[in-house]
Amino acid sequence: MAELILVAASGLAREVLASVRASGTFEVAGYLDDDPALAGGQLDGIPVLGRISDATAYPGAMFVLCAGKGKTREKIATALAKLGIGSVRYASVVDLAAFVSAGSTVGAGSILLANVVLTADVRLGSHVVAMPNVTFTHDNHVDDFATLTAGVSLGGGVGIGRCAYVGMNASVREGCAIGAGATVGMGSAVLQDVPDDECWVGVPAHRMPGGDRPHEKTSRNGKH
Ligand SMILES: CC(C)(COP(=O)(O)OP(=O)(O)OC[C@H]1O[C@@H](n2cnc3c(N)ncnc32)[C@H](O)[C@@H]1OP(=O)(O)O)[C@@H](O)C(=O)NCCC(=O)NCCS
Repeated sequence: MAELILVAASGLAREVLASVRASGTFEVAGYLDDDPALAGGQLDGIPVLGRISDATAYPGAMFVLCAGKGKTREKIATALAKLGIGSVRYASVVDLAAFVSAGSTVGAGSILLANVVLTADVRLGSHVVAMPNVTFTHDNHVDDFATLTAGVSLGGGVGIGRCAYVGMNASVREGCAIGAGATVGMGSAVLQDVPDDECWVGVPAHRMPGGDRPHEKTSRNGKH
């Protein structure tokens, strides 16, 4: 069985661990994380093996980036690429209870948790995270490092930009585009395109006053 290392010992990493344990698709060797407070410890019975740059010490392992924010996953992927760890070293994690249609594609390093559905001709880039119960419908196109949190629903033909973040239970009307680096607040109903790097919230969604680049603080404790 292939060996998998979870990069960033986050809440998402523990969710990925639970999914992989249920499916038995990988043997999880441990986490890599730069937080000194985690060094030498364990989370959910799996050891923190070292810092992220220690990835080079595991030439036979596959990796999955588990930082909750796409920008952070992008930074880690860039740093690891400089150490010679490229796309072939990333595993996709697809929960047993996810549905991926035959005509859909999932990029390297992407994570699909329980009950994620890809209906027809959905294209997910690399290092995309789809948390439980995300519904992708026909012809959705999701760029690298995007994050779709629990319960998000996308209408047909929706596009999601690189590193965009869509909050819990948000819905996006068919044909709309969410820009690169944009944030959609939880519970929002998006009825028109959201420009790059803006934050939109509400029903119907509108630009949040002062809502430039708020994805850096999508959670209050920064740990997700
Ligand atoms: C949109 C979001 C990023 C804004 O966070 P923030 O920058 O800390 O914003 P604040 O909480 O200070 O709120 C700013 C204003 O926007 C409003 N607002 C915030 N989130 C909102 C939302 N989802 N829908 C409607 N209004 C919202 C607030 O009521 C506040 O309005 P006010 O200025 O009139 O009082 C955040 O609320 C959010 O929805 N994050 C996603 C959470 C999520 O899905 N987490 C998943 C974890 S796995």
